[in-house]
Amino acid sequence: MIDTHSHILPAMDDGARDLTESIEFVKTAAAQGVDTIFATPHAFNGVFNCTKENIIKACDTLTEALCKESILTRVLPGSEIRVNHDIIVEYDKGNLLTLNNSGSWLLLELPDVFMANAVCLMIRQLRERGLTPIIAHAERNLMVINKPELINEFIYNGAVIQITAGSLTGDFGKFSMKAAKAMVSRDQVFCLGSDIHPGRKYRMADAKKKLIKLLGRTKADLITHENPAAILEDTNTFYKREYRKKAY
Ligand SMILES: [Fe+2]
Repeated sequence: MIDTHSHILPAMDDGARDLTESIEFVKTAAAQGVDTIFATPHAFNGVFNCTKENIIKACDTLTEALCKESILTRVLPGSEIRVNHDIIVEYDKGNLLTLNNSGSWLLLELPDVFMANAVCLMIRQLRERGLTPIIAHAERNLMVINKPELINEFIYNGAVIQITAGSLTGDFGKFSMKAAKAMVSRDQVFCLGSDIHPGRKYRMADAKKKLIKLLGRTKADLITHENPAAILEDTNTFYKREYRKKAY
């Protein structure tokens, strides 16, 4: 499986507090059948603004530590960017870190309150720049829960949808669980992320079971592996090569 959303880099945001905890998170992921994790610390969220350089550096540090422990699950850089009015300007300045630094996929977190038209315009502007926006944990956003048709609008304008694994198991309450299941049954979900933080359970394996129950194994594999593998296919940075050199 590929985990497309996590807070596992040490002491970057409200995620892993140190390298030991980072390694523990990765070990748990590996034990659940996850072979690739995108590390996506918060950026532009009002509290945390992890920079591109810091994230890439922390990812290298964690990868080195994992190699020393012979853990083959790979950790690739990314960020969870809070949607704001400056996204396009910041992207054009080169300040946003895409998943795997490949320049193709951008993980975006919606604010609690947003103008749907403005978000759709931003999605189109990112598409014009060759990016695919991934809307993180849409099922946990109250505006989306109250107006599920927003998801169609985001997809129509060119975004893809990610849900949190724990939403399928009820960790974020019954409304998020219902919204997540509805998105799954409408074929709106592109990929899954653990969004792991300290104090939360790592739910990728449990979520996969739920997906198999809801959709069957083929479609569950699509969401947990084949779709997010497309994010890797786009990559031509040194990360893929470097990791292979180190770990295989
Ligand atoms: Fe997150």
